[in-house]
Amino acid sequence: MEGFAGKVAVVTGAGSGIGQALAIELGRSGAKVAISDVDTEGLAATEERLKAIGAPVKADRLDVTEREAFLLYADAVKEHFGKVNQIYNNAGIAFTGDVEVSQFKDIERVMDVDFWGVVNGTKAFLPHLIASGDGHVINVSSLFGIFSVPGQAAYNSAKFAVRGFTEALRQEMALAKHPVKVTCVHPGGIKTAIARNATAADGLDPKELAETFDKKLANTSPQRAATIILDGVRKNKARVLVGPDAKVLDVIVRITGSGYQRLFQSVVGKTMPR
Ligand SMILES: NC(=O)c1ccc[n+]([C@@H]2O[C@H](COP(=O)([O-])OP(=O)(O)OC[C@H]3O[C@@H](n4cnc5c(N)ncnc54)[C@H](O)[C@@H]3O)[C@@H](O)[C@H]2O)c1
Repeated sequence: MEGFAGKVAVVTGAGSGIGQALAIELGRSGAKVAISDVDTEGLAATEERLKAIGAPVKADRLDVTEREAFLLYADAVKEHFGKVNQIYNNAGIAFTGDVEVSQFKDIERVMDVDFWGVVNGTKAFLPHLIASGDGHVINVSSLFGIFSVPGQAAYNSAKFAVRGFTEALRQEMALAKHPVKVTCVHPGGIKTAIARNATAADGLDPKELAETFDKKLANTSPQRAATIILDGVRKNKARVLVGPDAKVLDVIVRITGSGYQRLFQSVVGKTMPR
């Protein structure tokens, strides 16, 4: 993996899944890596693996919803490594539940982590990325930031919002002639702990939902996802689709327009427990 030697990269949610794989691939490619998570055990495991590779690493507990802490963290990373080149706003959670039976707090929690976490990270690091002369913001949306499905209104809202925010930012950086690239990442089903860590509305069994996700929907490994994402970053892609499912479904949505909703509601209705 070329192109990251000497770069300072920040990865949120680096204690598991895609974030962990990204941090390790970045370390392997010569980057200095600042990793964070609320899961300190998972974070320590990632830190150990980076140390074993010989990659310079700074590991901190950080909740991406805590804005003030995020701002202080950004300054601390800059202080520690002398500069910051890349932020991967990756931390995220999932929640399943129809709007009718979801609580406001469930929807707000998903927005707090999956959307506001990305905004907090972007805003906290943007001045440092601009100052570096060679910056890149990488925001992790989802295939569910490209189309919606029943039971995912909260997650869909957050991931569509990440996409809107990120696509506007990319244009702003270009117009302002700031040396900051911007990439929005849309993974399909990746074999991570996301569904096992997820919550669900009353009446749904999170364990059953996780088993269905793990067996039927998660087909790409986190390592493969990291390779695809970092390849997109090196090529300065505006949008990175991760996995064959993401590529195929993106085409179907573009061909059918809003017609995908009729198609997907029956497929999701048959696939996911309701
Ligand atoms: N796995 C998939 O199929 C898939 C598909 C599309 C998008 N994504 C997105 O990829 C990103 C990574 O997810 P993953 O699949 O690796 O899941 P994961 O559950 O394996 O890892 C997510 C990590 O984020 C951390 N996290 C959760 N809330 C946090 C918070 N408030 N502050 C800091 N860290 C927090 C968790 O502790 C965990 O270590 C998420 O944004 C997710 O929405 C995943």
